[in-house]
Amino acid sequence: MALILAIESSCDETACALIRDGNTILSNIVSSQINTHTLYGGVVPEVASRIHVENISTVVSEAVKEAGVTMDEVDAIAYTQGPGLIGSLHVGVMAAKTLAFTFHKPLIPIHHITGHIYANAFVKELKFPLLALVVSGGHTELVWMENDYSFQVIGTTVDDAIGEAYDKVARVLGLGYPGGPVIDKLAKEGKPNPDYHLPTPKTDEPYNFSFSGLKTAVLQLNDRLKRQGKEVIPEDLAYCFQETALQSLTAKTIAAVKEKHPAMVVVAGGVAANSRLRELMNEKMKAIPDCDLIIPPLKYCTDNAAMIGAVGEVAYRHQAFGTFEDAADPGLSMPGE
Ligand code: KG4
Ligand code: ZN
Repeated sequence: MALILAIESSCDETACALIRDGNTILSNIVSSQINTHTLYGGVVPEVASRIHVENISTVVSEAVKEAGVTMDEVDAIAYTQGPGLIGSLHVGVMAAKTLAFTFHKPLIPIHHITGHIYANAFVKELKFPLLALVVSGGHTELVWMENDYSFQVIGTTVDDAIGEAYDKVARVLGLGYPGGPVIDKLAKEGKPNPDYHLPTPKTDEPYNFSFSGLKTAVLQLNDRLKRQGKEVIPEDLAYCFQETALQSLTAKTIAAVKEKHPAMVVVAGGVAANSRLRELMNEKMKAIPDCDLIIPPLKYCTDNAAMIGAVGEVAYRHQAFGTFEDAADPGLSMPGE
């Protein structure tokens, strides 16, 4: 049982949270830079680090103030060590080290994706063995957890992450950044269109994913239709892209569930906010007995520090402490991997 101050700054959200006993959120401050990056059509790393530097102190002070605690009461400082953008990560790492040094607290380096997985602990106590479908702008992974704080990546994307494919397709269709929410909304108005046939993603390994071919097929189809002077129906194109991507994603996840028999399945990461993915997972999991499904509420799907605090508390119990020598690591592997 511990009070954790958690910091997250791996991409374009500057965030700090105070979490008691792993699942009581005393405060959860997220300062999003999305309005700035939207102007450029994607996250600009240098701009992201500069805004993190400008905001981090205010975000941390606000989180401590809102939690109504003193730094004396805090047991440890958890922070995202990686993966992510090096400059962005560095700001959070320095803030965490400064707090740890000033207030004599242990440091807990956290892998960002483990945070997304443990965001589900705010919904329900996690049960093991657990299968996590991690879907974000940088990751598409199936993670097997035999026990608490044990991670084994059993499947991954061989090219693009699913969120990346959503963002690129949206950019080419002129729908802005981030692409996921817009495509999600447009697809609801779309329908199957026989002219928009797209290839089903194929990979050698059963649990690996691939979205680059699908993304390119959408872009080529869009170009061809334009060249032929045909009207592109964005709703139908969004629908066909999303259905193809999500049917492949969920089919592989369900195949893993049937083979490995987890006690619980969780969906994690920014793309877990997708309404069709939530619907498909709920539908497909109904047919599987004795296995719970958790998909976090929207506010815990995208980047936040509460999730870093949730896994931080587990790491604290496992005494997974870091040192002042630890540096930001954009290619960090999961603990035990
Ligand atoms: O986890 P996250 O906030 O940041 C990373 O760690 O990458 O995920 C961001 C990704 C973006 O690619 C965004 O387009 C996608 O999540 N996303 C969605 C939706 N909301 C956000 N993708 C599909 N449908 C959504 N509703
Ligand atoms: Zn994330």
